[in-house]
Amino acid sequence: MASETINWGIIAPGRIAHKFAHDLQLAEGGRLHAVASRSLQRAEEFAREYHAPHAYGSYEEMLDCPGLDVVYIASPHSEHCAHALMCLENGIPVLCEKPLAMNTAQVQRMVAAAKANDVFFMEALWTRFIPLFEETKRLVGEGAIGGIRTVRADFGFKAEFPPEHRLFNMKLGGGALLDVGIYPVFFALSFLGKPDEVQATAVFGETGSDDSCGVLFKYNDGRLAILDASITVKTDTEAFLYGEDGALKLHGPFHHATEMSLTFYDRPSERIGMNYKGNGYYHEIQEVMHCLKTGKKESEKLPLQFSLDLMEVLDWVRREAGIVYGADRAG
Ligand SMILES: NC(=O)c1ccc[n+]([C@@H]2O[C@H](COP(=O)([O-])OP(=O)(O)OC[C@H]3O[C@@H](n4cnc5c(N)ncnc54)[C@H](OP(=O)(O)O)[C@@H]3O)[C@@H](O)[C@H]2O)c1
Repeated sequence: MASETINWGIIAPGRIAHKFAHDLQLAEGGRLHAVASRSLQRAEEFAREYHAPHAYGSYEEMLDCPGLDVVYIASPHSEHCAHALMCLENGIPVLCEKPLAMNTAQVQRMVAAAKANDVFFMEALWTRFIPLFEETKRLVGEGAIGGIRTVRADFGFKAEFPPEHRLFNMKLGGGALLDVGIYPVFFALSFLGKPDEVQATAVFGETGSDDSCGVLFKYNDGRLAILDASITVKTDTEAFLYGEDGALKLHGPFHHATEMSLTFYDRPSERIGMNYKGNGYYHEIQEVMHCLKTGKKESEKLPLQFSLDLMEVLDWVRREAGIVYGADRAG
């Protein structure tokens, strides 16, 4: 695969798959090769729009597509585990949308399948690869604001969808925490690691999904994270790191930020602007292709252990807040 073009397949051509396919057109050394939908007509329409030579009316059929190098999974959360296992067990590398699955047991099965089949696997947590997030990691690593003591982050939007939509439908993993709360949790884990204590509470809507969720992480050395998420109200969607020497703010929407403010206790503040390419998914696409071309089975920037830790913490938050899905009973 060293110098060839990487042929992508997409499973489940919904809303996010469109944005992803747009960015795939910008990616150097990659192209959309195949798309699979539960409906052949939807697959053909999508393939036409993004110039993919192959379209399939079932996900399984695409696994035999000649020349397929990697599959991007964009189905609802509840389906990620089955769809990823289907690919990984057939030796096909996978980039799977966030959250990687419904719970830790599922993620463990997926990671085990990737390792057993010696095949690349990564969670599509695009924020990790957004240039300004990378810059944030670099600055914090250099000690720009000193040791981080407190993290604050929120993500709220008003979802104007009917109750059966995946955002509210419990069978599809509906609710604020797994859809958008994952970003503040990801942010806290990125800078503080796994917490020693978790407190969380949620407000539930008519379908039983968590409409809003509030989360506190406590660390034994006195660090703290204060996080919240909602799918019924729009919030500023900002992220803050408070350090011993200053503070760093990622302006909203922080999960694909283009602007950061740095304030210091002993000198004037600074503002940094940095754009991303396309819709922002370009950068995770490049990371996957870099890994595939260099024979890596996971990303060093977003290792599978991080995705396991993230899901373990999300499970912990759910236990505290009383957010339960059918998949939990299935194990
Ligand atoms: N990274 C990001 O910025 C971002 C943004 C939005 C969403 N996401 C993630 O991407 C995933 C999909 O989100 P989305 O907003 O694109 O959802 P969506 O518009 O509802 O699309 C999901 C697609 O999955 C397929 N599907 C397979 N089984 C299904 C089922 N049982 N019920 C409904 N659809 C099913 C459908 O396509 P076919 O029937 O045509 O196969 C559907 O179009 C979610 O896990 C979400 O967390 C990520």
